[in-house]
This record gives sequence, C-alpha cells and structure tokens, in this order.
Amino acid sequence: MRLATDKRRLQEAENASVAVKSLSGEVSRSPEELANIVSLFASSDGWMDKVRLRAEQRWYERLYHGPDYDIWVISWLPGQSTGFHDHGASSGAFVVATGILEERRPGERTRVIHPGKPRAFGPDYAHDVRNGSLAPAISIHAYSPPLTDMNEYELDGSRLVPRDRASGKAETIDHKWRVQQPKPLDQTGALSIEQVLSAARARLRRLSPDEAQGAMVKTEAILVDIRSEGQRAMEGGIAGALVVERNVLEWRFDPASSARLPVATDHDLQVIVFCSEGYTSSLAAIALQDLGLCRATDMIGGFQAWRAMGLPIVPPSKAS
Ligand SMILES: [Fe+2]
Repeated sequence: MRLATDKRRLQEAENASVAVKSLSGEVSRSPEELANIVSLFASSDGWMDKVRLRAEQRWYERLYHGPDYDIWVISWLPGQSTGFHDHGASSGAFVVATGILEERRPGERTRVIHPGKPRAFGPDYAHDVRNGSLAPAISIHAYSPPLTDMNEYELDGSRLVPRDRASGKAETIDHKWRVQQPKPLDQTGALSIEQVLSAARARLRRLSPDEAQGAMVKTEAILVDIRSEGQRAMEGGIAGALVVERNVLEWRFDPASSARLPVATDHDLQVIVFCSEGYTSSLAAIALQDLGLCRATDMIGGFQAWRAMGLPIVPPSKAS
C-alpha cells in the first residue's frame, strides 16, 4: 500500500511537470520541477522506515533512480556536514523533512533551512550543508540528470578551490559520499553495543551531574533514577530524583500510555535519566526521544559521577 502511494505521488510529480529534452536526447527537469518532486516525495509515506542514523558520518540512500532524475534521502546527526561540493552538471533541489539544516555559500550569509520550503538550484551550484542543531535532521534530495559527478572544494577566503581529489563518476560517488557504515560484527549486519551506544549519544545533549542538578533546581526538569532496587540499596540515591526502573520507563513517560505517571502529560517534559555509570541511561533517553519526548537526555557518568563530584546523596541504607 505504501509503495503504491509513493508511486502515485511520483506520478503526480511527473504529471505536474514537463520534462525537457536536451539536444543530446537527455531528458532533464528544471530546478522548480525538482523542488515540486522533493516536496511531494517528502509528504508521501514509505520512505521514513528506510532511514538510518549513523554516528560516524551522514547516512544516505538513493530511493528512486529514473531516466531523468533520482531521489535521495539523507540523515544528519548534530554536527554532520557535506563540506563544499557541487553536483556536476545536475540541477537539484532538497527539502528538510524533519529537523533543521544550514546551508553555506561563499560570500553569503548562512541560510537556516526549516522543514517545508525546498531549496532548488541549477547546474554547477556549490554549497556546504550541515546540521548545526542539537537534534537529528532528515532531508530529501532530487537531481536531474541523475547524480553522476560531484566535486569537492575548500573555502579559501571568499572563493572555492577544488580539492585535490578530482571529480569521480557515478561509481566513485559511492566511495566519496557513501557513508562509512559501521562494520557489522557478522553477516547478519548486527552492530556492536559500542556502535549502538555511540549512535545514541550522538543524538543527545548529555548533562554533567552539576548541569543536571542545576536543571532540576532552576527548571521543571525531572531527574529519573532507572537503577534497579539492588543498585539503589547498595549505592545510595539522589534526593528529589524520581525512581522509575528501566523495564517500565517508556510506559511511565509516554503521554499516551494508560500506565503513565501523572507528571507525564506532554512530550515537552524534560526528563534527565541516570543509571549507575551513564551507559544504560543513554539508551533509555533515546527510547524516550523515540516516544516523542524530544528533550529527554541522560546524566554523564550516572550516580557514581554525581557522588564523585561531592553532590548530595541519600545514604545507601535509606535510598531504596
Ligand atoms: Fe548538495
């Protein structure tokens, strides 16, 4: 059903535009048509579940490859960027589907790009696109003719200088641009826990214990202790922290859950999760973000870091 919807959307985009045939017989789309195509595609369903987030570099995938244009989806974790590049002879357009991106051009002010309004450009257009925000972003891109050549540049003052690496053909794009995927442990494609943890933390603005304490005092942030009863009894606790063990965390904070806590009324709640050492808490915070609690994060170093900094604790015998 989803694929059918996608095809219908693409057909609508096809119908809404008129392809131009060049003297060489190559059919191409104008930047305005590509802007229409990315907007229609972004509003369709069936592509979001193909998106992956990768901590090492941007992740991207070509989802459609037709004779006259192609469509790509790119995910951007905070700080990830393209560097200056052009798109060879291709015109292009892109639209932010979620999150916020920034576009830099030589001699121009940085443009902040929010979801909704596509950017479109003709051949030989060069720019640097980055995620300068604290949250992941996803964008949809279309190129016509389909992307085959790209060139990378360094910014020298206000002008772009080609990098040493010359442009490559289509197959080298995969080497130059394709994300270095984390190496799977085996043929199943499974990731290690270190890779999963690294990806999770790339999505978080983690707080030090004193920052967490400050947030709890100065704002309505909730410090949540997800340790087991045994750990709390052995290590002690933090006064004012809400104890919600890991195995029920999502059910207690999802505003739509019938088992939610009274305080979990909306997705804007700032939840600061901590565990014993700050590992499990990162994965737990991401689980809350995936439920829509976009301000959820965790405390670096967990309870042990809090205690090591000399911040007040509840002695072990009284903490559970
Ligand atoms: Fe680009």
